[in-house]
Amino acid sequence: MSQKIAVAIIGYGNVGRGVQTALKQNPDMELMGIFSRSPERVKQDVQDVPVYSVDDLQALQKCSVAILCGGSKNDLPVQGPHFAAHISTVDSYDNHSCIPEYFNKMNPIARDNKTVSVISTGWDPGTFSLERVLGNAFLPGTKTYGFYGVSEKGGLSMGHSDALRTIEGVADARQYTHAIPEAIERVRRGENPDLKPEEMHWRECYVVLEDGADAEKIEKEITTMPAYFAPYKTEVHFISAEELKENHAGFPHGGMVIGSGSLGGTNRGTIEYHNTWDSNPAATANILVAHARAAHRLREEEKFGAYTIVDIPPAYFSPKSHDELLAEFL
Ligand SMILES: NC(=O)c1ccc[n+]([C@@H]2O[C@H](COP(=O)([O-])OP(=O)(O)OC[C@H]3O[C@@H](n4cnc5c(N)ncnc54)[C@H](OP(=O)(O)O)[C@@H]3O)[C@@H](O)[C@H]2O)c1
Repeated sequence: MSQKIAVAIIGYGNVGRGVQTALKQNPDMELMGIFSRSPERVKQDVQDVPVYSVDDLQALQKCSVAILCGGSKNDLPVQGPHFAAHISTVDSYDNHSCIPEYFNKMNPIARDNKTVSVISTGWDPGTFSLERVLGNAFLPGTKTYGFYGVSEKGGLSMGHSDALRTIEGVADARQYTHAIPEAIERVRRGENPDLKPEEMHWRECYVVLEDGADAEKIEKEITTMPAYFAPYKTEVHFISAEELKENHAGFPHGGMVIGSGSLGGTNRGTIEYHNTWDSNPAATANILVAHARAAHRLREEEKFGAYTIVDIPPAYFSPKSHDELLAEFL
């Protein structure tokens, strides 16, 4: 095998841990180090890989590509432009409405510094974005719909779980999003309906109360929380800390993209893409790792600048040669 792709992880949380694990099943890549704002914390968990401060640019220069695993809200808008000036990067920035602005910030930095930055990848934004583009192109004019939490347990929403934990009297909480099957069927039938968010999903909350907390008051506060819960059908279950630990420890998620439209004349077509993840951050991490391979190749070809998943030929994600891809997958 030719020389391995030297990878850095920047930021060590759920996704950072997932990237560390995912790299182990990609033999063409090597984890050179984990860079963190709190290296002492990371060293407590990580013994087999060097851990550096995020300020150690000298250590970073030994790597070919950095996978940025910080949070979308506060970390990536700062860390993306900072690191793109030093090294090729991949990130999962997921603030959908701000992606064009983020791209326009990253693109000149990467171009001027002869790096490649793949932004906003993962599964949504990421593989779901790609499926929306393909669905809309292959069935022209098709409206594509995203449904989340299509398995029985639903999909764990970290943002909504965080929102529950901000309520006074809540010791811990998890929130699962469920797709509404009737809405999926309407899309499949080709109705192209105008669906409000609350007509597509409902929300299920598992809440551990602090001692002496008023359950009735907290339930009301949850179901009336603007934007997060008020518009949706919301069920609240109060459970013990033990039950939460036993039954709600992981990050299951998944969903589907559906588009239904005309094939011309009276013929209709439906396109569906579906993924199920035992762990949302582990899935995101695997997708980020494949994009690190693409970023490395694009930089080798001196195609500097910023990219999204829809800008990259799929062959760049794969460790297989072009001949192998044609023989095995076409
Ligand atoms: N596109 C997609 O499909 C997709 C899917 C899932 C997630 N995401 C994105 O991925 C981002 C990261 O998710 P995550 O679950 O990995 O977030 P997280 O666990 O909160 O970690 C974010 C950052 O916080 C710091 N951190 C983590 N644990 C810490 C602790 N115990 N003490 C102090 N600092 C800690 C780490 O930075 P330092 O090491 O520098 O301290 C880490 O990089 C999310 O914001 C989300 O936007 C995208």
